[in-house]
Amino acid sequence: AEPGWTETTDVVVVGSGIAGLTAALYLREQGLHVTVVTKVNIDDGSTRWAQGGIAAVLDPLDTPQAHAYDTEIAGVGLCDPQAVRVLVEEGPARIRELIRRGAEFDRNPDGSLMLTREGGHRADRIVHAGGDATGAEVQRALHEAVRRDPWIRLVEHALVLDLMRAADGRACGLTLHVLGEGSEDGVGAILARAVVLATGGMGQIFSSTTNPSVSTGDGVALALRAGAEVTDVEFVQFHPTSFVTAGIAEAGSAREASAAPAVDAVQRPLISEALRGEGAHLVDENGERFMVGQHELAELAPRDVVAKGIYRVLRATGADHVYLDARHLGREFLEGRFPTIMASTRAAGVDPATDLIPVAPAAHYASGGVRTDLHGRTSIPGLYACGEVACTGVHGANRLASNSLLEGLVFARRIADDIARDLPGQAEPARAAAIGPAWVADPAIRTELQRAMTRGAGVLRSADSLDTAAKELARLAEQRSTPDTAAWEVTNLLTVAATLVAAARSRRETRGCHWREDHPNAADEWRGHLLNAVGPDGVLTQDFQEGT
Ligand code: SIN
Repeated sequence: AEPGWTETTDVVVVGSGIAGLTAALYLREQGLHVTVVTKVNIDDGSTRWAQGGIAAVLDPLDTPQAHAYDTEIAGVGLCDPQAVRVLVEEGPARIRELIRRGAEFDRNPDGSLMLTREGGHRADRIVHAGGDATGAEVQRALHEAVRRDPWIRLVEHALVLDLMRAADGRACGLTLHVLGEGSEDGVGAILARAVVLATGGMGQIFSSTTNPSVSTGDGVALALRAGAEVTDVEFVQFHPTSFVTAGIAEAGSAREASAAPAVDAVQRPLISEALRGEGAHLVDENGERFMVGQHELAELAPRDVVAKGIYRVLRATGADHVYLDARHLGREFLEGRFPTIMASTRAAGVDPATDLIPVAPAAHYASGGVRTDLHGRTSIPGLYACGEVACTGVHGANRLASNSLLEGLVFARRIADDIARDLPGQAEPARAAAIGPAWVADPAIRTELQRAMTRGAGVLRSADSLDTAAKELARLAEQRSTPDTAAWEVTNLLTVAATLVAAARSRRETRGCHWREDHPNAADEWRGHLLNAVGPDGVLTQDFQEGT
């Protein structure tokens, strides 16, 4: 069967977080018609959950070189220096443009932007909004700007399925499934002169993540099916401090009363690194600050170092959390600076002004993704990737705090410029689009998949744990289903999980957020990138490319 309907636009953007909406707005400035496709509602992606802020050199005493230095130290030898340079040099102008679009950041009494610090930064360079509600403010501003533009068409509740290619191989559109319509009637096609993936992350492959339920790796899975190169997927960043509470599930009514955002069973509330930036300490069950002495920056070491420090305590004690002590910061300061965190902790009966906050690492950010050049171009002509779905080379083996929203802003602009510079006419698809992937997994396996990944490919990995995870995934992939959105989503989860496990198995070293118990040190021969791609025969291949 063929798609039931077809629409045509200049550029189709998939995803409606900071990367997708910013790309759409810049494309409009280039006079192009844009269709934004998003899986649930426009605001349901990861952006609105971002707390800490956006990093950029805005203090006259700070320099782009210093920001690049901190970014590259966090990335442990794998950042692409050219991409990092683009990020830190173009970042400040992109933030000013975001402010012109309507985003309101917190300011000092003299009107200057208020800047804070997070892990791995040696300067105050993080702008924030509403205290710890930066993502919500950015999403609000972009959402309103997009809604104001009649030439941006928004298609909500639509899961993208596959890329369409012209006879010369160029991307010329995609197929998508609109929720609530039958699996065949609901599949349509959007033809476009360029396609931008901005689908966000894949945190839902694990049992606990700071990512919302929509973060299922759809863009990476689509890119793999289309034959695009995907790289660095083994580098999943675990945020050191997600809120751990047995009370989350029962806290629904209290949460409504306190207006804290609702989370699902897998998504854990974030306790922003900015809380540590403002002086909160990590302590074990005896009240000891265990990060002191492990790194010169103690609790503000890069994220992988802090996550490992916590994990070691958890392994030694058998506990499922350590504590964050923010009590000395005082109620008034905490209420004013961290209203989101105060609401989500209180909803579960924890008051950071008087109580220790139970925290543990949770999957947070995919440092890798669909490989791009400095203009967001993937290995398939006409297909671009922007934001968390992309691997531009700025994060290396571990992303520096608050560089992700920045990456979305900077590369969205570069993508729009590149598309406008060189946009061919609409090409005809080489062949009629198929409806969805060749096989479809059973949605019922989602929890089992998450458990297998957490056990075998989580914070700490080994050849044995990864082999077990690979076997589990292969077994789960045998359970097939009839196509619908939930089934396609789980198929995507399986596709990206299997790719991650294969890459993590190959990388026999410990680097950044990839931690191998059986290879505990970084190895020079592994200073490079694993490139993953699915061949025409459907088989995943891997290549290693030395260098940054
Ligand atoms: C945080 O607020 O700790 C998250 C910031 C980030 O992920 O960059």
